[in-house]
Amino acid sequence: MSKSNKLQEVRVFAPASVANVSCGFDVMGFALSGPGDEIVARRTDESGLRISKITGENGLLPTSVKKNTAGVAAQKLISNIGFEGGIELEIHKKMPLGSGLGSSAASSVGAVVAVNRLLGSPCEREKLLVFAAEGEKVACGTAHLDNVAPSLLGGFVFIRSQQPPDVTELECSKPLFATVVHPHIEINTEDTRKILRREIPMHKAVQQWGNVGGLVAGLLKGDYGLISRSLQDVIVEPIRSVLIPGFREVKQAAMDAGALGSGISGSGPSIFALSSSERTSQEAGKAMGEAFKAIGLENEIYQSRINEQGPKILQER
Ligand code: HSE
Repeated sequence: MSKSNKLQEVRVFAPASVANVSCGFDVMGFALSGPGDEIVARRTDESGLRISKITGENGLLPTSVKKNTAGVAAQKLISNIGFEGGIELEIHKKMPLGSGLGSSAASSVGAVVAVNRLLGSPCEREKLLVFAAEGEKVACGTAHLDNVAPSLLGGFVFIRSQQPPDVTELECSKPLFATVVHPHIEINTEDTRKILRREIPMHKAVQQWGNVGGLVAGLLKGDYGLISRSLQDVIVEPIRSVLIPGFREVKQAAMDAGALGSGISGSGPSIFALSSSERTSQEAGKAMGEAFKAIGLENEIYQSRINEQGPKILQER
């Protein structure tokens, strides 16, 4: 292909996501329509990968490729396909860091999708998952897929195995509306993983996998009652929720507004709710936001249907 036929620049939107979805610690997540990060990949004359610009993160993210989640993910892809030219990345953070919205995953996903497209799409999305997960490892200490997979593939996903990845989309036959409320505090995922118990009592495990199975079945059957009964986490939430001021009140506010269920979004501090109608999800969002405000916590409310599409190419030339 001559230089003029090659893409020179690609801009990609990669969505935020809600991981765990109560009972599915590390094995379930869904993509939101917004917020999300934007990543630009551009060819350069100088060989190798570099990060030329980061916006929207107040100088908190490293520009070194080896330390940056998007940089690591893109480098894995580039090394895998043996590309020897030059690429620069711009990372435009459009969502809060350490929020429980899958911010690092969105950057990793945006980077691999943009670079892959720039280089003529040599890899399938499933393969990109492995590279994006390596980026996630830099941010969180483990390469879990429950933010990366929904952000990359779209929809509501179930991860049977992390390594090798075995990921399947759970198509809900009835509409689901997500609400996520982000209080203005920051929680580090790596820290919140360290406080979890290494062993769990058998009776708790039985309850949890009952709920995981129930949630999967409820989604596939479009059974709101079963979804609602299954949105319970008896293992992780009781430990992590103590780090989120007002957790119990905010969750109760969502349930009182008619949500099917509510829990910690990823490792928090954001709290999500799922509802069967847009109106309920709006009312839940308002009530949750007010409950945070009642204890002095400013917050943002995000509302969206499950984003079936995943990343979007915004511009290319
Ligand atoms: N499953 C992950 C966790 C999601 O809860 O730690 C956040 O990265």
